[in-house]
Amino acid sequence: MTDTAPPVTATAADEPVTLPVRRGCPFDPPDGYAALREHRPVAPLRLTVGPGDGVGWLVTRLADARRVLSDSRFSHRNELIGLPIPPPFPIDDYTPPPAAPGAFIKMDRPEHTRYRRVLNRRFTVRGVAELTPMITRITHEHLDRMAAATGPVDLVTAFAEPVPVRVMCELVGVPTPAQETLAAQFAVLSRMSYTVEELIAACTVVDGVLRELVAAARVDPGANLLGDLARDDSLTDTERVNLAWALLGGGFDTTASMIALGTYALLRHPDQLALLRARPELVDSAVEELLRHLTISHLGASRAALEDVELGGVRIRAGDTVVVALPAANRDPAHFTDPDRLDITADRRGHVAFGHGVHQCIGQNLARAVLRVACPALFDRFPSLRLARPADEIPMRDDMLHYGVHELPVTWDRPADPTVGAATPAVRAPGPSADVP
Ligand code: HEM
Repeated sequence: MTDTAPPVTATAADEPVTLPVRRGCPFDPPDGYAALREHRPVAPLRLTVGPGDGVGWLVTRLADARRVLSDSRFSHRNELIGLPIPPPFPIDDYTPPPAAPGAFIKMDRPEHTRYRRVLNRRFTVRGVAELTPMITRITHEHLDRMAAATGPVDLVTAFAEPVPVRVMCELVGVPTPAQETLAAQFAVLSRMSYTVEELIAACTVVDGVLRELVAAARVDPGANLLGDLARDDSLTDTERVNLAWALLGGGFDTTASMIALGTYALLRHPDQLALLRARPELVDSAVEELLRHLTISHLGASRAALEDVELGGVRIRAGDTVVVALPAANRDPAHFTDPDRLDITADRRGHVAFGHGVHQCIGQNLARAVLRVACPALFDRFPSLRLARPADEIPMRDDMLHYGVHELPVTWDRPADPTVGAATPAVRAPGPSADVP
């Protein structure tokens, strides 16, 4: 499956392109990226709204992507960046506001560094390793429930979505009753379009829930992330709310999309699935390869130039928006051998599925940990797992901030003796069983 669309150079060489979104193959980057990467690696890009004169730049090669994302002359400040896609709702005057206190994603150094330091401890490899028993327990609870179902199951709602939501909520310290409420509102904010009313309603609910949790944690700080924030006297409550918001917003939808889309990709590449099943030690490399091959951050990573910068033979002017096309960079043949092939044995180091530089995903170790547990556990539990609907009827999420599948109906052979299929797996993590929404 390759990105073999004809060159996008039918227009004049300096004619701005629109951000590619249409895909010929559900697992490949949007059509046109291969041609852009080869012929116009730093291409003028049509912006729909925001600062600037309506034209920015689209960067498609891996080396250029890494340069932009690690160069402090490119800012992530919200108020400086134009959008390459329509805003979520019709608006006459789109003026992006500066980031609120604690909303570190859209900040530069030194504010950004200060907030990352507060959070980092929980997201190191060692910090995340402590969560493996919890991740394993939650994964198997959901597999148990799937096993009890009598017909086809939507893997998205039964498994891919609830597992990361519960993992993130236990880590942050969101109790069960609030988990579903937050997940429902973040699902609205994960869309590429919503009404102003939906936006206000979602933000009001999320803010209200998080404010209550932050206040409760100040009175009685638990052994979770909200407890950490409560114990840090340098933070205000608004900062605590916005830090938790950034983590939950970043952690729900992304890992869920990767579980569902990764499962779909493995079902459509049975040779790779067979290899993973035969050689479980390949799980780490399989997770990296799925992250690279599928690159769910399909809208890329946007920055604004703070001064004039030369990139790929093009002069980017101070104030210009630059969109780094992560899906295109992750298929760059200058870096990866046979980049359009899903190959779980290949060395795919250096991919940018989690971004690069100071804003590189803070949750990457956690996402990896969830994927390493969830994907093999799913196929171990249901060895005959298969699609319950023709592949061309699987609805793809190209209308969401993160790419994936809206639904993934699956089925499997039920054993004649139902107690066999519902057996609790031998490897079961210790820990209390949590209430499930
Ligand atoms: C497979 C799952 C995930 C993918 C593919 C992913 C992807 C990304 C990417 C590409 C960026 C960089 C954006 C940029 O530079 O503009 C990023 C940043 C971020 N991610 Fe993730 N992410 C995932 C999981 C998570 C999880 C589990 C969390 C929750 C802890 C999370 C929280 C964040 C936050 C807070 C940032 C902003 C970091 C900063 O600005 O310093 N992500 N993610």
